[in-house]
Amino acid sequence: MEENKKANIICRCEEIEIDEIRKWINAGYTNFEELKRILRVGMGPCQGRGCRDIILRELSKATGKPVADLLPGVIRPPVKPVKAKLLAEDNE
Ligand code: FES
Repeated sequence: MEENKKANIICRCEEIEIDEIRKWINAGYTNFEELKRILRVGMGPCQGRGCRDIILRELSKATGKPVADLLPGVIRPPVKPVKAKLLAEDNE
């Protein structure tokens, strides 16, 4: 039972399950930014690299729009963590 529960988590950073995402999509939250604000999906350490595509596919299914036509939400840098030491060495 516990294994099935883990399999339904879409946003691992914020531990948001697919059922929760579908509930809000059915309630009228039909773009990634809205879901991000209400559920915090895409706001974890990976900045949505682990969940954005899956959620966009879910939105595509619900709205009938191709994924390419959906807004991907704001992607804030750094996309990948960078050690401060590397940035400091660049200035030397
Ligand atoms: S998996 Fe969703 S923010 Fe990291």
